[in-house]
Amino acid sequence: MTVMTTTSADVAPLFEPFSVRDLTVKNRFVMAPMTRSRSPRGVPTQEVVDYYRRRAQSEVGLILTEGTVIDRPSSKNDPNVPHFHGTEALAAWQEVADAVHAAGGRIAPQIWHVGPRRDHRVEWTPPGPVDTASGLVDFDSPRLPPMDEKAIADTIAAFGAAAHEAVRLGFDAVEVHGAHGYLIDDFFWHVSNLRSDRWGGATVRERARFGAEVVAAVRSAMPKGMPLIFRLSQWKGVDYDARVAQTPQEMAEWLEPLADAGVDIFHCSQRRFWEAAFDQSDLNLAGWAKKVSGLPTITVGSVGLSGEFIAGVNGERSEPRSLDELMRRFDRGDFDLVAVGRALLADPEWVKKIRHRQFNQLRAFDPEVLKSYY
Ligand SMILES: Cc1cc2nc3c(=O)[nH]c(=O)nc-3n(C[C@H](O)[C@H](O)[C@H](O)COP(=O)(O)O)c2cc1C
Repeated sequence: MTVMTTTSADVAPLFEPFSVRDLTVKNRFVMAPMTRSRSPRGVPTQEVVDYYRRRAQSEVGLILTEGTVIDRPSSKNDPNVPHFHGTEALAAWQEVADAVHAAGGRIAPQIWHVGPRRDHRVEWTPPGPVDTASGLVDFDSPRLPPMDEKAIADTIAAFGAAAHEAVRLGFDAVEVHGAHGYLIDDFFWHVSNLRSDRWGGATVRERARFGAEVVAAVRSAMPKGMPLIFRLSQWKGVDYDARVAQTPQEMAEWLEPLADAGVDIFHCSQRRFWEAAFDQSDLNLAGWAKKVSGLPTITVGSVGLSGEFIAGVNGERSEPRSLDELMRRFDRGDFDLVAVGRALLADPEWVKKIRHRQFNQLRAFDPEVLKSYY
């Protein structure tokens, strides 16, 4: 496939402000959450503060932090993933939020529990039992004991406690990570959730209960004016073709309990934003989420780049790509906000360059940037 590189569309609509509850962001660009594993013992360093500040200074409207984990023994899969609990880590996050605000940006932590997903590149044994819906870690590993009622209640409370800290530290919103096969998504997917109690069931509405209760706990820790973002995906780390919802109707049944529990924005993770979510039309996942829920959505996936991120993380380079297809969908009203990942790793000034139409100055994504921390 030939990748178009020139953008001829008007990108000015992406620089219109956007408001939800009491939050206004100055443009439609969101920094996608990206794990960088630069927080030894879970505590973000000065480098982390400077990294986020740099993106805020260069006009990113809303920064979503990398996944930062709740207070459960097995919530992370890498010792250098940041915590969103404990005095030291929270003091460091305070510095991050303050730095972003001083630069005129807005920021939300992405609160995370990895559930069954281990990172095989990292040697790490969690100091407590692995939390999962049904004990399935890999397709070929033996099954572990599933979470019991107490583990479920404690985990929901830990998500609520993290949201409480986000409010205390002055963050502008909270994103709950409900995607990619991690804990909340482990409950959504019929392949990984085989429970027959009230946390499972044959329908996606039943399997959405755990996510909805997490959302309710997070919502109740937040003031009314503060927005709650929920990230979801069809694909999983163990299966890129997985589908939680087979049809738009199922998608509606999936999102309804989450919206009722207090979600304000659905962040719909795809690896390529231009791919249709269902056969009925060319709408992508964010387009369908907006259509079935009536709520604002964020799209993501290879915006401004020729190749997708899994290959990128595994060493593939991506070249700059035209924004014309993105604008066609945005102008049609398919989604409200656009998350950008690797393009912002390659170039903190990416948004600024787009605003000034400096398309010939955009950088390729070279996987070497993952080794640096600029
Ligand atoms: C290095 C790296 C780390 C990532 N870590 C996270 C994460 O912590 N949470 C998350 O929801 N997605 C994570 N993602 C996925 C991104 O948020 C985003 O959806 C993906 O990179 C696609 O956007 P892009 O094509 O613009 O890079 C990560 C992606 C990359 C490249």
